[in-house]
Amino acid sequence: MTDKKVAVVTGASRGIGRAIAIELGKAGTFVVVNYNGSKEKAEEVKEEIEVLGGEACICQCDISDFASGEIFFKEIIKKYGRIDILVNNAGITKDGLLMGMSEEDFSKVIDVNLKGCFYGIRHVARQMIRQRSGRIINLASVVGVRGNAGQANYAASKAGIIGLTKSAAKELASRGITVNAIAPGFIKTDMTDALSENIKNSIKEEIPMKEFGNPEDVAKAVSFLASEEAGYITGQVLCVDGGMAM
Ligand code: NAI
Repeated sequence: MTDKKVAVVTGASRGIGRAIAIELGKAGTFVVVNYNGSKEKAEEVKEEIEVLGGEACICQCDISDFASGEIFFKEIIKKYGRIDILVNNAGITKDGLLMGMSEEDFSKVIDVNLKGCFYGIRHVARQMIRQRSGRIINLASVVGVRGNAGQANYAASKAGIIGLTKSAAKELASRGITVNAIAPGFIKTDMTDALSENIKNSIKEEIPMKEFGNPEDVAKAVSFLASEEAGYITGQVLCVDGGMAM
């Protein structure tokens, strides 16, 4: 058990999830650092939170598996008594042009990004309703708003997250639970490192601020939506994208 608010951040061993976990830890929240395969990296995030004076634990779960997710969230509630904040951050890409995209690559991205997000909400909603409070923040993308050539599967998953966010927000608003989405633009992480320099440069041309963002830019926005001060904000999509979605 802990006296602090409890936050679960999925896919928190690196990139944006890591920055979110650290930011929430700094703000005085007990953070459950979820990882799928990278235990050592997750341990490093936990240690970094502790060095900054916060508290955290690490917990393995493949969030695209409904049954594993159910056990994962039940364990957290049993151990820490509550879940105040859920950040559905875990996500993958399997890019390719629509014409050649395999059914497998389409499904896998939907399974992790969209179904994983639904599963998370589904598993915490009952507990948050009992608490009569909660904050759910889902990582969408600018690509879910604008579409993107070569990312039909990913864009569909992220547009789906926006519809899911708004529907969940409507269902849960009267129970003191807010549900919002963050739509990052292009942020410097392993996910975008995979892009060639040519593609990176052409994307920068489309960004009014002419540069990629940092994971911390997204983490600050998540931290705000997770705070008491954001209690009257729900069903929104906050773009953290250097102006890209305008
Ligand atoms: P990343 O690839 O660096 O990190 C993703 C994390 O999710 C990794 O730790 C990975 O292990 C974890 N993960 C993947 N599948 C999982 C599963 N089945 N179960 C549990 N964890 C799993 O990606 P990045 O850039 O940090 O992205 C984080 C989120 O932000 C993703 O949802 C991504 O789609 C979204 N996003 C990222 C943008 C960017 O430019 N980097 C732009 C817009 C959205």
